Amino acid sequence: MSHLIAPSVLSADFANLQRDIEMINASAADWFHVDIMDGVFVPNISFGFPVMEAIKRYAEKPLDVHLMIVNPDQYIERFAAAGAAMITVHYEACTHLHRTVQAIHATGCRAGVALNPHTPVSMLKDLLTDLDMVLIMSVNPGFGGQQFIPNSLNKIAELRKMASAVNPDLLIEVDGGVGLHNTAALLQAGADVLVAGNAIFAAASPAGMIAELKQIEGG
Ligand code: DX5
Ligand code: ZN
Repeated sequence: MSHLIAPSVLSADFANLQRDIEMINASAADWFHVDIMDGVFVPNISFGFPVMEAIKRYAEKPLDVHLMIVNPDQYIERFAAAGAAMITVHYEACTHLHRTVQAIHATGCRAGVALNPHTPVSMLKDLLTDLDMVLIMSVNPGFGGQQFIPNSLNKIAELRKMASAVNPDLLIEVDGGVGLHNTAALLQAGADVLVAGNAIFAAASPAGMIAELKQIEGG
């Protein structure tokens, strides 16, 4: 399988959201990455249901919803109803993570777990067979446009090795500071899904950048 590109809507122009969504529809992108921040789990607030529902009205590709919120269990059904295809919660925000993953699957969505830069991939050892995806945060969550943390490459490689025996279909997504400079290395380490915000939306041609990121090979 070739890798997937998930542009982060957080970096879109919110005053021209329909235009940016249609750009992504027409591009080589695979998913829409939708960042939900509550100002508690992370030191920033992004947007909530009305904006996500507006995205869903125009998006012609699956919505990959990244919940950077405390107590995500409370909102899983609403995010599913708002059009999520994939719901990712943070390991650090869930006391009963196994139950949360089951609750996501009960809605019919695919389930992912995100790890902050300080959280070892080994924390997911006993949950790997239940997951569709693990999201390796390669910046501290909360903001677009931050610098990639190089140790993320080691975490991806370690996770790929861990998953190969028990869940070879597990998707590994990487989020934060992804661009042309590190895409080949990320693919080589074992990443399947690349989230990119700033690299895409700050480019002279966002659709051109998506095509470039999609074409790079891991070697
Ligand atoms: C950060 C978000 C990311 C962010 C990535 O907390 O989870 O999805 O939008 O943006 P870039 O690619 O600009 O680092
Ligand atoms: Zn994200």
